[in-house]
Amino acid sequence: MTNIPAIQPSLPTHWYIDADHYQRELDAIWYRDWIAVGRLEQIPEPGDYFITRIGSQQIIITRDSEHAPRAFHNTCRHRGAILCQEDKGHFRNGRIICPYHTWTYGLDGELIATPFRVASDDFDMGNYPLYDVAVDTWAGFIFVCLDEHPAQTLEEALGDEAKEVASWPLEDMVIVHEEVTELACNWKIFWENFNECYHCPRIHPELCKVVPLYAEGIQGYYDQPGWEPADDTDNGEPSVAEGLTTWTIDGISALPELDGLDEKKKAKGMTFATLLGSMYVVGHPQYARSVRLRPLGPEKLELTATWLLPPGTAEKYPDEIEHLLSLVKLVIAQDGRACEWNQEGLHCHRHKEGVLVPQESGVAWIHDWLREKLGEA
Ligand code: FES
Ligand SMILES: [Fe+2]
Repeated sequence: MTNIPAIQPSLPTHWYIDADHYQRELDAIWYRDWIAVGRLEQIPEPGDYFITRIGSQQIIITRDSEHAPRAFHNTCRHRGAILCQEDKGHFRNGRIICPYHTWTYGLDGELIATPFRVASDDFDMGNYPLYDVAVDTWAGFIFVCLDEHPAQTLEEALGDEAKEVASWPLEDMVIVHEEVTELACNWKIFWENFNECYHCPRIHPELCKVVPLYAEGIQGYYDQPGWEPADDTDNGEPSVAEGLTTWTIDGISALPELDGLDEKKKAKGMTFATLLGSMYVVGHPQYARSVRLRPLGPEKLELTATWLLPPGTAEKYPDEIEHLLSLVKLVIAQDGRACEWNQEGLHCHRHKEGVLVPQESGVAWIHDWLREKLGEA
C-alpha cells in the first residue's frame, strides 16, 4: 500500500501567460472570493483609509464613525471619477469628496452633499450611495469580496484551514515589519512553489538546516512512501531541528514565546494556514507572519510579507528584530528568483505542460482547487 500519487500533468502552460485566461481567473477567483487586503491597524481611526487594487478594481478601505471597517469602489456615483488619488490618508470631517464636481459622501457611503448642483425635483440623494463592497475581518486581517452577493461568509470561506493558527493571538498582534516585493511571475507559480519542498535542498540550504526534513526534498512525512499517521493528531508536518525552536537564521530567538499556544504546534516551530488564493499565515512560537498575494497581470505578482508581534515586544527587544526577519527574508528572495526562472521558461513554444512528481502532491492540491474554481474539475 502506498499513499504516494502517480505522476500527473501540470496545468496548461498558456494559463500562466495568456491575458484571456488571466481575465478568467480574475472573474472566477479574485472578483468573487474573499481577498485579504491588509490589517485593521492600518486604519486605526474613523476616516483613515487606504486603497487596494484587485485586478482593474480600486477599492477604498476605511473605518466608519462606529469604528466598523467599510469598503467602497473608488468611483464617484456622479460621472464616475476616481475619488481618492492618494493610496492612503484620512477623510477629514468624515467626508469623502470627489475632486471633480465635489459630490460628498459620508463614511457610510451615503451621498450627503452636492455643492453647486442646479436643483431639480427629480434628484434624490438616496439614489447615489457609493458602490459598497463586502468587508469582514479575521484575526486582525481585513478581507473584501467584490462579488455583490458573496456566495459564502468570510468564516465559511476560510474554513478549517484558518483554525490551524487559532491558538495564535493574531488579532492583538501588531506589524513590526513589512516587505513588498514585485515578481515577474504568474500568481499560481508562487502558490505552486510555496506548496512543495522538492526545490528546498537546492534553493534553501539555510532553511534546510532549520527544518531537516526539507533537506530530503519533501514538505512533510506524508510525502514519504508508506507513511502512516502515528495518531489522530499527526498530520505528517515536520518540526524544526532538535534544539531549535523557530524560523530564524539559526533557529532560535531571544523573544519570549507567545501565550496560549497549542503545545504540539509550538513544539513543531511552525504552523501554516494556507488561505487560498490571497494569503497564507504562519505561526511560530515567538511571532507570526503572513504573505499576501496580489496579481498585477498574467506575469506579474506583488507579495506583501508581514511580521507580527504582540504590542510592545519590538520596542522591548529592538536588537532582536533583524534576527527575527533573517531567515524568512532570505527564503522569500530565494523563492522569488525560482518563481521568476519558472515563469521565464514557460515561454518555450514546445512546453505545453509540465509534470508533477509524487512529492508535489501539494502542487496538485493547488491545481485541483484552481480547476474547481474555473469549473474544470
Ligand atoms: S464625477 Fe464625482 S462629482 Fe462629478
Ligand atoms: Fe521555497
